[in-house]
Amino acid sequence: MEMPTKEAAIASNREAWNDSARHHKDSPDWPALADAVRQANFSCLDETLSGLLMQVGVADKDLVQLGCNNGRESLSLFALGARSVVGVDQSGAFLEQARELASRSPHAPQFIEADIHHLPADLQGRFDVALITIGVLNWMPDIGAFLRHVAQTLKPGGALVVYETHPFLEMFDPEAADPFRLSSSYFRSEPFVQHEPIVYEGKVEQPSAPSYWFVHTLGDLFSGAIAAGLQISHFKEYAHSNREEAYDRYQQQVAQLPLCFTWVVVKGGAEQGMPIRDLSDWLGDRAVRRDRCPRHE
Ligand SMILES: C[S@@+](CC[C@H](N)C(=O)[O-])C[C@H]1O[C@@H](n2cnc3c(N)ncnc32)[C@H](O)[C@@H]1O
Repeated sequence: MEMPTKEAAIASNREAWNDSARHHKDSPDWPALADAVRQANFSCLDETLSGLLMQVGVADKDLVQLGCNNGRESLSLFALGARSVVGVDQSGAFLEQARELASRSPHAPQFIEADIHHLPADLQGRFDVALITIGVLNWMPDIGAFLRHVAQTLKPGGALVVYETHPFLEMFDPEAADPFRLSSSYFRSEPFVQHEPIVYEGKVEQPSAPSYWFVHTLGDLFSGAIAAGLQISHFKEYAHSNREEAYDRYQQQVAQLPLCFTWVVVKGGAEQGMPIRDLSDWLGDRAVRRDRCPRHE
């Protein structure tokens, strides 16, 4: 396979997401979402992420969500008491949807169109909490560079909160004849390439700009964070799936894989950072609610 440059992969991903936006808005779930965001306490965050954000403490804090897509999760942060929320995404077409949702909401998030590797200067050192959720890390060709840019948005002592799909899942193909057979290396270096629009369920049989999905090991993530001056404060793996429905088949197995994880890293440099406790015990006792954001594809 001919490998694109990092810049070419990021640009092609932008085009692919823009090509995909209308398919998400055409979903029967869109009208329900557009109505639900009218409520001041609207939230589509599941219990795992809401609980973690409450423990980290987001009330009266300035938050940024990187890779915010249609902004539904950014809007949800107000229900947890956020003082201000900025959503960043490089897809103008999805940010149009985010602005439409925001116009119906009583809250006033700001949405900024930017590649995370080229953030505007006024986002530097501005946030108490940066949030990254399901399906963002794998679009990044260089996870170390990405984490350095993310770290720059934080105030000293600020926290990056991540709720992502587990990299072990990249080793399986849920659509294969035997979905439990290992089909790809954990250490795969070439990206997965898709030539159709990016939708969360099924396929849209139309051509689109290629999109590039990169596999990052947990070691890549931890090393990247440490090199970016971020201290690991929490990491937890879960047996529930937070990605496309096809992956639900990996739940409730006798030999259970980890399916997703939460991760909190804190930017050094402040005498007193955010008072983040060891969250593992608290999260370990929580029942995990299975419902996810309303689907809108
Ligand atoms: C799977 S979506 C995130 C969905 C989100 N968790 C939700 O449920 O709404 C990934 C988003 O990352 C964005 N993205 C990918 N690469 C990016 C980059 N380099 N800079 C900014 N945004 C990027 C895409 O445009 C897309 O909207």
